Amino acid sequence: MTPAVLAVDQGTSGTKALVVCPERGVLGTGSAAVRPRYLPGGRVEADPRELHESVVAAGRAALADAGAAAGSVAAVGLANQGETVLAWDPATGEPLTDALVWQDRRAEPLCAELAEYSEELLKLTGLPLDPYFAAPKMAWIRRHLTREGVVTTTDAWLVHRLTGAFVTDASTAGRTQLLDLDSLSWSDAALDVFGLLGERLPLIVDADAPVGTTTAFGPPLPLTGLLVDQQAALLAQRVTEPGTAKCTYGTGAFLLAQTGPLPRRSTSGLVSCVAWRLGGRTSYCLDGQVYTAASAVRWLTDLGVLPGGAADLDVVGESVPDSGGVTFVPALAGLAAPWWRGDLRGSLTGLGLDTGPGHLVRALCEGLAAQVAELADAAAGDLGRPLEVLRADGGLTRSALLMQTQADLLQLPVEVSALPDVTALGVAAAAQMGLDPGLRTADAVPRIGPSAVYEPRITAAEAAERRGRFRTAVEKLLDRAPVAGAP
Ligand code: G3P
Repeated sequence: MTPAVLAVDQGTSGTKALVVCPERGVLGTGSAAVRPRYLPGGRVEADPRELHESVVAAGRAALADAGAAAGSVAAVGLANQGETVLAWDPATGEPLTDALVWQDRRAEPLCAELAEYSEELLKLTGLPLDPYFAAPKMAWIRRHLTREGVVTTTDAWLVHRLTGAFVTDASTAGRTQLLDLDSLSWSDAALDVFGLLGERLPLIVDADAPVGTTTAFGPPLPLTGLLVDQQAALLAQRVTEPGTAKCTYGTGAFLLAQTGPLPRRSTSGLVSCVAWRLGGRTSYCLDGQVYTAASAVRWLTDLGVLPGGAADLDVVGESVPDSGGVTFVPALAGLAAPWWRGDLRGSLTGLGLDTGPGHLVRALCEGLAAQVAELADAAAGDLGRPLEVLRADGGLTRSALLMQTQADLLQLPVEVSALPDVTALGVAAAAQMGLDPGLRTADAVPRIGPSAVYEPRITAAEAAERRGRFRTAVEKLLDRAPVAGAP
C-alpha cells in the first residue's frame, strides 16, 4: 500500500495541513491561524515565530485527526507563501527581523531607483521589477534593517528550523527575481542589481528532493516535498499540460497556466516562472496576480458590510439583483499583472444614496472576477490559443456568487475543486515522489474531482459590456499619479 504523507501549506493568513494518501485520499486535517499585520504605508509584516509555530501546530493537529492512519505517514511536504522574506541567523536559526509579507509595498522606492534594470531583470528572471517579489524586499532589509545573518524566503528558514538544511526549491527561487530562468541557478547579474552579491543563498533543490529529517511532528520523518504554494495548487489541479489554467482564490487570487518544459516569456504582462522541478525535469508556467481577494473581503468585513465575513458573500450579495451601477476596482494593495502599477490603490465609483451592502458585495465579486478574466485573456494570448476551462480552488470558491460571476465574465466554464484547499495536495504529491522516485506525477496526485461546474449564464455581449465598465475604471486609475501616502 502507498504510504501517506503529511502535507503542510504555510499561507499568508493561516497554515493548513493534510494527511494524504494518493489511493485513500485525505485522512486527516489540521489548521492554525496566522495574523499578518497591515500597517500604514503599504507595510505588511508577520511574526516568523508565529509562522513556524503554526506549521508545527497544524501538522500535529492533522496527524491527531488522522488517528490510526497517522501511523502510515512516511514523509512530510511543505508548501510556502512565495515572496515573503526575513533575515535570520543560520547559526542559531533565530529570526533577526520580522517577515516582510509578499503584499508589503515598502520596497517601491527601491524598485523606482532600479527602474533602468527592469528590462534586463525581466529577460533574465521572467519577472517584472516589483516589490511583490522577494529580491526588492531582501535588498530593503539589507539597506534598512540588518546586514547580519542570511536573508531568504520563509521556506528556507522554515526548512532550516525543521531539518537544519539550507535549501529552497526551484519554484520558490523563481519568485525571488534572482533566479536565471533558463539555467535555474542564482544569477550574479540579478544579485548585483539588488546589491545582494556575496549573500549566502540556499541551495536550489528539486521539489521532490529529500532534504533532511524533522522531529517537529513527533516521530522522525523525512522532508521530501517542497513547493511554492501557487505552483503546488497548479500540480494539485492536474494542470500538467500546456493549455489549461487554474486560479486559487486565497488572500490574493493567482491564475497560473502551464507552458511545458521550456520557459515562455510573456508578451502580455504576465510572469514567466518555474512551475516545478520534479525528478530533474522542469515545467514552466505563466502567472498573473490579484493582490487582494480574501484581503478585500476582509476589508469589507471590517467595514461592517459583511457581518459574518466571507461566509456572508452570497447571502448579502443575493439580496440585490445587481451591483446598482457600482464599480469596484479592488486594488487595495496595488495592481499587479498585466498592469504592474503597485503604487495605485483601489477605486469605488457609482455610489448613490441607495447603495447598500449587497451592491458593494456584488461590485467586489465583479471586480475580482474581471481582474481574473484579464489575466486569463493574457494567458490565452501568450499560449496562442483560448483557454477551454478555468479550474478554481481556494477558500473564496465557496461563494457561488463569485464563481458564477467568474464564469459569466470569462465566458468559460469554471470547475470548482471539491476540496477548496488543494495547495497541500500538490506538495503531498511532490513528497510522495520524493519517497518513490519511480512514481509518475499523475499517480502521485490524489484524484479530487470538481464539486461544481459553473457555466456562463449571460451573453458574450453583456460580459463584454460589464468588463468594459471595469476596464474604464482601471484606465482612470492608471492615468492617476501615485496616491499620497502610498510608498
Ligand atoms: O504569491 C503569494 C502567494 O504565495 C500567497 O498565497 O495562499 O497565502 O494567498 P496565499
